[in-house]
Amino acid sequence: MASRLVRFIMCLIFLFVSITKVKSQQKVFNVKNFGAVADGKTDNSKAFLGVWNQACQYNGPGVVLIPEGTYLMNPVVFNGPCKGQIVFSIRGGLTAPTDRGSWGNTDHWINFNSVDNLEINGGGSFDGQGPSAWPFNNCKTNPQCKQLPISLRLDFVTNSWIHDIKLINSKGFHINVFKCRHTTLERIQITAPANSPNTDGIHVGLTTDLKILSSFISTGDDCVSIGPGAENIEIKGVACGPGHGISIGSLGKYPNEEDVKGLVISNCNLTGTQNGLRIKTWAPSHPSTVFNLTFENINLKDVSNPIIIDQQYCPQRGACAKEVNSC
Ligand SMILES: *[C@@H]1O[C@H](CO)[C@@H](O)[C@H](O)[C@H]1NC(C)=O
Ligand SMILES: *[C@@H]1O[C@H](CO)[C@@H](O)[C@H](O)[C@H]1NC(C)=O
Repeated sequence: MASRLVRFIMCLIFLFVSITKVKSQQKVFNVKNFGAVADGKTDNSKAFLGVWNQACQYNGPGVVLIPEGTYLMNPVVFNGPCKGQIVFSIRGGLTAPTDRGSWGNTDHWINFNSVDNLEINGGGSFDGQGPSAWPFNNCKTNPQCKQLPISLRLDFVTNSWIHDIKLINSKGFHINVFKCRHTTLERIQITAPANSPNTDGIHVGLTTDLKILSSFISTGDDCVSIGPGAENIEIKGVACGPGHGISIGSLGKYPNEEDVKGLVISNCNLTGTQNGLRIKTWAPSHPSTVFNLTFENINLKDVSNPIIIDQQYCPQRGACAKEVNSC
């Protein structure tokens, strides 16, 4: 009798699980069915936003599918939270505007904000059209320079997997990871010319439990830079060069910055870079702490400064307060 009751309950549980499974079936939202035009000329930011909102409201894995083709996108923010898992599957290429009126003073091009369980995949590309903007961002010659738009900005993104995408010629940083948790960037390919200004590959700030794996970064500034408040960061299997290497910092620019701790960098190749592994603090700087760092199996080839701890960092001549050597 008891065992029959148990079996009946098990059956009910099974039925319930099956129904839940059916309910959360993946649904594909093809941007082409929502007015996106892959001619490289039509602005698709509104069309993509419409698709994103529908996929985000869908109660299961919602897939925003971007088929082959070139999609011009003006700056856009994809906001969460979403109802279920969300996948941004980019098979084609997104291209940024080249006219200054379209990007003006924004700090981002493509921005994902407050999204949990996000996956970005598909092998496609984000072309930031940097050459149209770099003349405005040469801080060595232009004291008025300001940060140009980040190609892929991830803010408050959690439990996510960003993989198999390419970023080309960002106007500013290629990827900025800000206040994210439990997220992996994997097989990311970043390319910009060695002389492009401030085109950092991946910048990380105020983020915990991030992995950057099996990626290739060739750029005009740091391949990876780790800012204040980075904790438990693993960088493994990254090939970097040309570029300025893998940097911690610049730190100490502002008072009360959070520490950098629990950083493990392993199996990386740095080739033809200005620096290898660097820790830099501003001159002069506010106090902050970097600790528990592990560097393991790093190959350096044709690197000008293989290991450098720079406590007098000042990228712009004359822009820093009088340097004070505290050592
Ligand atoms: C680094 O170089 C070694 C030797 O050439 C190679 O076996 C390894 O795959 C490279 N790693 C990366 C991440 O490119
Ligand atoms: C050092 O960092 C590693 C990797 O993030 C972490 O597992 C370990 O607990 C940390 N150790 C201390 C003493 O904080």
